[in-house]
Amino acid sequence: MTRAISLHDVSKSYTRGTRVVDRLTLDIEPGEFLVLLGPSGCGKSTVLRMIAGLEEIDEGELLLDGEWANDLLPADRRIAMVFQNFALYPSMTSRDNIGFPLRIEAPGEDPGTRVDATARMLGIEDLLDRFPAQLSGGERQRVAMGRAIARHPSAFLMDEPLSNLDAKLRNHLRAEISGLTRKLGVTTVYVTHDQAEAMSLGDRVAVLRGGVLQQVGTPRSVYSLPRNVFVAAFIGTPRINLLRGVVRAPLDGAMTISLGKQYLRLPEPLCLDHQLLRVQQGREVIVGLRSEAVRIAKPASARPGEVHITGLVEHVEFQGHEVLVHFNTGSRPAVVPDLEAPRPAPPVRRRRRDSGSVLERLRNRAGALRAGPVVALEHPADDAHDPAPPEGRLPGDLIVRTTPDFDLRHGMHVPLLVDLAHLFVFDQHGDRICPAPARLPDLEE
Ligand SMILES: Nc1ncnc2c1ncn2[C@@H]1O[C@H](COP(=O)(O)OP(=O)(O)O)[C@@H](O)[C@H]1O
Ligand SMILES: [Mg+2]
Repeated sequence: MTRAISLHDVSKSYTRGTRVVDRLTLDIEPGEFLVLLGPSGCGKSTVLRMIAGLEEIDEGELLLDGEWANDLLPADRRIAMVFQNFALYPSMTSRDNIGFPLRIEAPGEDPGTRVDATARMLGIEDLLDRFPAQLSGGERQRVAMGRAIARHPSAFLMDEPLSNLDAKLRNHLRAEISGLTRKLGVTTVYVTHDQAEAMSLGDRVAVLRGGVLQQVGTPRSVYSLPRNVFVAAFIGTPRINLLRGVVRAPLDGAMTISLGKQYLRLPEPLCLDHQLLRVQQGREVIVGLRSEAVRIAKPASARPGEVHITGLVEHVEFQGHEVLVHFNTGSRPAVVPDLEAPRPAPPVRRRRRDSGSVLERLRNRAGALRAGPVVALEHPADDAHDPAPPEGRLPGDLIVRTTPDFDLRHGMHVPLLVDLAHLFVFDQHGDRICPAPARLPDLEE
């Protein structure tokens, strides 16, 4: 089948030497709802604007419906864009705003019927004679959607279309957009920095970081099999627990992952994934535990594959139907530096005083391939992102989700069971090494 939108090795720089989009390759199927997800400044809008023809493509190629489209004029692309700030003409009524692009496309024809049909579909018939200033934020966004839909485009590009709205309306319109685009069967590329929005809307989610595509897959696969620690940390609430660990694989004893003051003892016989960890012997790794991988229970009630650790309650976050408990387990949290920051700054990192070591050079080289190392594994004292804990006490390093029935208070020591079937291990560069890629059943990329 011909792809609706294909990007092959597409790059873009605004200033020489700094690529804001770096060799992006992405194929979008007809009728698919693809979400571009990433922190602010990672290049999402730039990608969208290149697809729309509002921004020139420096390198690589763009195909629309299988045809080379790098130089196609925006007006010839049959693409409709919806922006964050609604971009309605203030001096026109909703009717004229929706009909405007139709008039441009077919100057002699009366757009009335199509405007009315679109308004009916969106339930905004009674807003047609109002001006933008007389509309609420949500109503304006519906009119903006109407303007995009009325043209019967072959693709919608939506750039954070809901981020100026309040949470309740956002949820409502999110469902509306999802229903509408599916009903119309129009290929949609939707940009957001909100992972929950991405997960709830997308057929597939493409995660960008610093202009580099990290992973693309169904919401389920990017959550369950994140390719690296950045994707793991960016997706999911509460954020995945990331702890620094060291693999200990003695010749004559059980293999463990040391987490500072405690360790995870890997059950024998070792499963294949854990056998693969043996080559990491003595190395620092990052252990990823989603909140559902840990439960509060006594060691005696451990199921197969669960191992016991203890946590000191630091903080209890009551959320009604559930409680998030912040534990201190005596480990050090791993840092993912640019989760929220605009762009990584690899040159600064390369100039560290230990930049001469072989390990550092290797790390830099591997890291450069994917826009800088994903994680910093330096000593806490070296690391501006990792301030020393107050009075020698470590802050909470493990968040566990639980039902509200436990009466937990600050300072209590609580037994925890870690389900090793849900254990992620990432190497020093942040790449996932456990479970082995694509191990979970029924997960196709
Ligand atoms: N017209 C421009 N000129 C120079 N730099 C730009 C321009 N547009 C965007 N940028 C830069 O490119 C990077 C990516 O921007 P953008 O695509 O808007 O990111 P996002 O939409 O993910 O927040 C940012 O660092 C931004 O500052
Ligand atoms: Mg943007």
